[in-house]
Amino acid sequence: MQRLQGRRAIVTGAADGIGLATVKLFCAQGAQVIGVDLPGSALEAALSDIDGAHALPCDVATEDAPATIMAAARERLGGLDILFNNAGVCPMALVTETTDEIWRRTFEVNVTAVFRLSREAIPLLELSDQARIINTGSVMSDFGGETLTAYAASKHAVAGLTKSMATELGPLGINVSYVQPGSIVTGITRELFQQEQAFRDYWAQKAAVRRLGQPEDIARVVLFLASADAAFVTGHGIYADGGAMQHV
Ligand SMILES: NC(=O)c1ccc[n+]([C@@H]2O[C@H](COP(=O)([O-])OP(=O)(O)OC[C@H]3O[C@@H](n4cnc5c(N)ncnc54)[C@H](O)[C@@H]3O)[C@@H](O)[C@H]2O)c1
Repeated sequence: MQRLQGRRAIVTGAADGIGLATVKLFCAQGAQVIGVDLPGSALEAALSDIDGAHALPCDVATEDAPATIMAAARERLGGLDILFNNAGVCPMALVTETTDEIWRRTFEVNVTAVFRLSREAIPLLELSDQARIINTGSVMSDFGGETLTAYAASKHAVAGLTKSMATELGPLGINVSYVQPGSIVTGITRELFQQEQAFRDYWAQKAAVRRLGQPEDIARVVLFLASADAAFVTGHGIYADGGAMQHV
């Protein structure tokens, strides 16, 4: 049986990595999905041969993005059951080199857009009998690291906004959760892993399962959160890090 038969979803950051893997899995499970990614990204090519996927080029951090994206959900899908706020940026800079612009952009994409899209989606999600907001946090929603000041702060904020929204939206029938990926081979990390063998090996060995994660490892967790199986799951983050953060 398909686990998302007839469900309508928005996935942001859908041109690559975790977002693209999730669009593929959601569609294979019977959903209709609007995939959102930056204008000029590989979005349209990436989604072109996926049955049930619709491409919507849009920068989620722009002023009119929430209204544009929810209007597309109304017009193309006839409503909305699942909002997967996944688009993110991960600039790496020492705190002394973290400019105001790096800080601002990181928060605009990773936090403010998640809040604004979620707020705009509520009237649509309220009409669904299985409504979900799923955000992409990180293991850095609980930890910090060198060169990750802006990123880790933004992902801690994702945890905070998810937990608070869950308390308010539960009575409206909307479950709100976040997924916490470990080290996953995606557009954000691919180049770094290729260039820095030691970095790649460190994270692969740090994981209890002794490998890096693949986008599909996270997409399967997101599918669980989106499905009827997660009816009693809300307000929490779910780690999918291969056990990496159990090692100090
Ligand atoms: N890869 C990892 O190891 C890892 C670990 C923890 C968390 N994450 C999180 O996973 C999420 C997905 O990233 P990924 O690893 O799949 O990387 P990715 O680069 O493959 O995918 C991210 C996508 O988001 C898009 N995007 C960025 N800014 C956008 C904007 N303003 N509007 C619309 N789209 C935008 C990018 O174009 C890209 O296609 C991010 O939130 C990231 O922080 C990744």
